[in-house]
Amino acid sequence: MSESIIQIQHLTKTFGEGDTAVHALEDINLDIKQGEIFGIIGLSGAGKSTLVRCINLLERPTSGTVIVDGKEMTALSEKELRLARRDVTMIFQSFNLLMQRTCLKNVCFPMELCGIPAAQAKKRAVELLEIVGLRDKADAYPSQLSGGQKQRVAIARALATDPKVLLCDEATSALDPTTTASILALLKDLNAKLGVTVVVITHQMSVIEEICSRVAILDGGVVAEQGDVEDIFSHPSTDAARRLVYPGGVSVAQYPAGTHAVRVAFNGGTAYQPLIASLAIDLGVKVNILGADTRNIDGKAFGTMLLGLPDDPNEAAKALSYIRSQPNVSAEEVEYHG
Ligand SMILES: Nc1ncnc2c1ncn2[C@@H]1O[C@H](COP(=O)(O)OP(=O)(O)OP(=O)(O)O)[C@@H](O)[C@H]1O
Ligand SMILES: [Mg+2]
Repeated sequence: MSESIIQIQHLTKTFGEGDTAVHALEDINLDIKQGEIFGIIGLSGAGKSTLVRCINLLERPTSGTVIVDGKEMTALSEKELRLARRDVTMIFQSFNLLMQRTCLKNVCFPMELCGIPAAQAKKRAVELLEIVGLRDKADAYPSQLSGGQKQRVAIARALATDPKVLLCDEATSALDPTTTASILALLKDLNAKLGVTVVVITHQMSVIEEICSRVAILDGGVVAEQGDVEDIFSHPSTDAARRLVYPGGVSVAQYPAGTHAVRVAFNGGTAYQPLIASLAIDLGVKVNILGADTRNIDGKAFGTMLLGLPDDPNEAAKALSYIRSQPNVSAEEVEYHG
């Protein structure tokens, strides 16, 4: 396993005091590795933004330590913090561009703050706009850009100080699915090419499955679960994880009493379509898909599917034993008696 770049130990954050205190974060422990894309997911109010703001000390933790690239952030002076923040930059849902400045000048801004000579800053800004695919928009103002283009400028600006970590707080939440996909692809590409560690904060599991290797689930200010995305998807072991991974759930109780069904769990074998097809073709048994909440990750299926079995007990038994013989699949009979 590669080295840690962010270590969060026993972090708590409480807003206010006494009866009205809000315990936004409680005893958070995370270890984010150099060069990975780490996801932090949770419902609204879970504490995601507070957590990410504690990483670059925009928010001062109430207790605990935050170590970024070997520096204990909580121990730094304001001046040292300003320097450290060049290594930990951030993009937001609302882009936060300077509206009175062109794209080029937006990207130059953090370099101006560091005292980089104007000509050198401009050269680097042009390169960065090129990297995010917006070379031709250098002289445009943010108001002349689409949401996806604004986020690309914000990404270019965030990269201007060659950060080691890029924090993304709901960076795609204001974008349509196609634009979201293109921004996620860009982040993945930058991670691969520049080696920048990316921390993705989101309430959408689809964002996590698209680009993250590991994920922490934040629920009510605590980490409910953390691990490899594949493991969390296939075996969400807490209610918080199950709510996020399979928000719809699939229940036989929606069907008429007496419905004989099987709950099939896919644990990362091949896609599920071949199973349904081969039941029909090889066995001549037709099953109904009563409900499904499955996802394909890298061509592997995860999730559960509820299949209605034929009324004929022999056919039903044949189907069941066939399903149970499949690799990476487990099956549990369910019958609803009303
Ligand atoms: N400055 C503050 N003062 C008081 N309470 C705050 C402050 N900032 C956040 N909180 C509270 O802390 C909790 C976590 O908020 P946070 O913004 O971190 O949630 P979130 O997971 O980012 O939610 P969302 O998905 O809606 O952005 C909430 O109960 C919120 O009201
Ligand atoms: Mg938030």
